[in-house]
Amino acid sequence: MTTPTTDDLRRRAMDRIIFHATPRRFLARTGPWVLTRGEGALLYDDTGREYLDALAGGVFAVLAGHGREEIARAQYDQACNLAYTNPYGTTSRVTVELAEKLAELTPGDLSYCFFSSSGSEAVEAALKLAHQYYVANGEPQRHRVVSLRRAYHGATAGALSTTGWSPGFGVFRTGFGPQVPLPGFAQAMPPYCHRCELGLTYPECGLACATSLEQTLLGSNPDEVSAVVVEPVMGTGGCIVPPPGYLARVRGICDRHGVLLIADEVVCGFGRTGTWFGVDHSAVVPDIMVVAKGLSSGYAPIAATITTPAIAERLPVFWDVHTYGGHPASAAAALANLRIIEREGLVEQSATVGAHLLALLEGLRANPLVADVRGLGMLLAVELADAGDGRPGGLDLAIAGHAAAEGLVVRPLGGTILLGPPLVFTQAQAEQTVEVLDGALAAAGRP
Ligand SMILES: Cc1ncc(COP(=O)(O)O)c(C=O)c1O
Repeated sequence: MTTPTTDDLRRRAMDRIIFHATPRRFLARTGPWVLTRGEGALLYDDTGREYLDALAGGVFAVLAGHGREEIARAQYDQACNLAYTNPYGTTSRVTVELAEKLAELTPGDLSYCFFSSSGSEAVEAALKLAHQYYVANGEPQRHRVVSLRRAYHGATAGALSTTGWSPGFGVFRTGFGPQVPLPGFAQAMPPYCHRCELGLTYPECGLACATSLEQTLLGSNPDEVSAVVVEPVMGTGGCIVPPPGYLARVRGICDRHGVLLIADEVVCGFGRTGTWFGVDHSAVVPDIMVVAKGLSSGYAPIAATITTPAIAERLPVFWDVHTYGGHPASAAAALANLRIIEREGLVEQSATVGAHLLALLEGLRANPLVADVRGLGMLLAVELADAGDGRPGGLDLAIAGHAAAEGLVVRPLGGTILLGPPLVFTQAQAEQTVEVLDGALAAAGRP
């Protein structure tokens, strides 16, 4: 058998693969990007080129870095021994150990895990859990959900209904036509200081965004609301770091109206923002936490919806099921990944290298194309001056294209350049990132 040439493989991929949310015309000239190897924060493609991955696998997932034999080995050993168990009243030692580990790491009394395979499934389970809890509690009318504009919570119907419209990804809903958003899903103003919908400035605003969320909740008839869903730092929506006190105010609003708080930690979890979980920055304990991506650093598909005894033990049965929920080989990958994050101090590294990267990015403000720079830990963004016009394919694409040509992977989205490196990123790699971005901004700005 002959090894296919690069061009062959790319052409064959174009002939056989439907790519997720990627216009075919974007791929028409070069074909898809075919990756062959990864090591730490470096990726190699089928032409042998090396790239610095400032996006942790493209979707903020690969916290422990690429090429970790320890995770692969744990998965292999578990699969050789027992690869699969079904999710109906059956489990495995490694799945129990993972649930115990998550109970130990998560704040407060979050301690019961429902396992699934992706962030969307885990968000969907959180919405079902909130409603079924209220049914068990004698309040079956509580089925409404409040989320934030610009939020991204996933691609299945419930998760998509909590996802907000924004320039980059509102279009995702079109696949469901008018059926999505589902009835009863309302969206509130995001805590987006740089483009405050009310034109206010923190702290004089008195957290008007939280007040506005409460008004949205009141407008939805609070006796019918089961949950408020938030990302502690909004990731895909543009790395929106809420102002101090915001999350605690949201917790208070939920408590006042007897509504559950769901924290979507799919991006923020496991050190991404420099603490174990995004909610840890505000010492807020949600009623339900959703984790995925960084749980296994993307080495295996696994997600969890984690809740308190008060909720889990109130339900006589939880009606949801996924064939791969609690998958032993995936659980083994997750446990090995969490061991690495703890042993190598990657949460602390995220805080220190992330702060260094943010300080360097601040220097880019000197370029008139840059409108804002923000971040927390290893979740950062450079917002461009043309971000407000809502047109896709503006400066962000040009800058990401120039960066890729120089061997740096970042994500252009709705006028913002998003960065979310693996937590193993070094100070030197942070410096290299900003140097390349500086050059890409200069190149994009040239007439
Ligand atoms: C905050 C958040 N929640 C949920 C999801 C959905 O996760 P998945 O793509 O694994 O279904 C994502 C995906 O990017 C996300 O960023």
